[in-house]
Amino acid sequence: MSQRVSLTQYLVEQQRLHGHIPQQLRLLIEVVARACKRIAISVNKGALGDVLGTAGSENVQGEVQKKLDIIANEVLIEANEWGGHLAAMASEEMESIHLVPNRFPQGEYLLMFDPLDGSSNIDVNVSIGTIFSVLKKLDGSKGVSEDDFLQPGSAQAAAGYCVYGPQTTLVLTVGDGVAMFTLDREQGSWVLTADDVKIPTDTKEFAINMSNKRHWDEPVTRYIDECLAGVEGPRGKDFNMRWIASMVADVHRILTRGGIFMYPWDKREPNKAGKLRLMYEANPMAFLVEQAGGAATNARQRILDLQPTKLHERVSVVLGSKNEVERVTRYHVESDAAK
Ligand code: AHG
Ligand code: MN
Ligand code: MN
Repeated sequence: MSQRVSLTQYLVEQQRLHGHIPQQLRLLIEVVARACKRIAISVNKGALGDVLGTAGSENVQGEVQKKLDIIANEVLIEANEWGGHLAAMASEEMESIHLVPNRFPQGEYLLMFDPLDGSSNIDVNVSIGTIFSVLKKLDGSKGVSEDDFLQPGSAQAAAGYCVYGPQTTLVLTVGDGVAMFTLDREQGSWVLTADDVKIPTDTKEFAINMSNKRHWDEPVTRYIDECLAGVEGPRGKDFNMRWIASMVADVHRILTRGGIFMYPWDKREPNKAGKLRLMYEANPMAFLVEQAGGAATNARQRILDLQPTKLHERVSVVLGSKNEVERVTRYHVESDAAK
């Protein structure tokens, strides 16, 4: 039997052999992974653990919070509040940043997360997840403000997600490819189960919420119509469709077998750039997808190049197999030029 590599061993190797990650970052990732394990336990309890249903409150985005949104947020905050790796945290479920109590020396990193992604799937027992992104605080000053978080995604030191599905899988990049770790529930450990993950450049599978079709922009309609036309259409091949409504699960499928995921701007809320959030949904996923050889744009520009202007900024998202993402992006650029 081949030797099992744990998350800790993987990270120590990254630190020792490749010099990719400083000690603080390694410990921070281990704390996040431990928190995900605790969230997985709550998720698995379901109705037996009183974790289903709504909490009767709203988050800063005006979305109704589910009990698990709040539980997962608290687990992540609590796990990361000690240890000295972090200066501050930010979350989908909190309006402003959460300062880590003062320590000396102050932690160097900033952690952002979507504690529970795919909230509409919690009560129906469909895969959900946690997404996280790690930035380094830029200057050496003591204080921390929201401005410290407003760095482009290309500055991320690490990013990942944990998918709570039939298996619990942690997917991680520290800027040296993408690795997947499956939770061994009996041992309570993360075991490396896929390394150097690569997204096929081409695909015959797209993911988009088709019910929004009438609200789409013309280049999105063009792209999807061409896919739907199948083998007789301009693409000359039949496409398949999937939409899980948990970005984590859709991205996990794309990292596993390819595909394109789109949550584009649409006319329902024309003043919002999109539904998904840049800092703790799009940026970490874009980092993972690029590290796996795919591409991620806001339909016009590379997501990782976008300069954020606020913590809960929204963005249009097109990511996955490179040739398809480039095609959708080209359709938008051509349409803009013709206006
Ligand atoms: P969250 O549960 O963190 O608010 O995110 C849900 C997101 C994303 O995971 C998913 O792709 C999308 O919302 C689904 O949206 P629709 O219900 O509009 O399809
Ligand atoms: Mn989400
Ligand atoms: Mn969420």
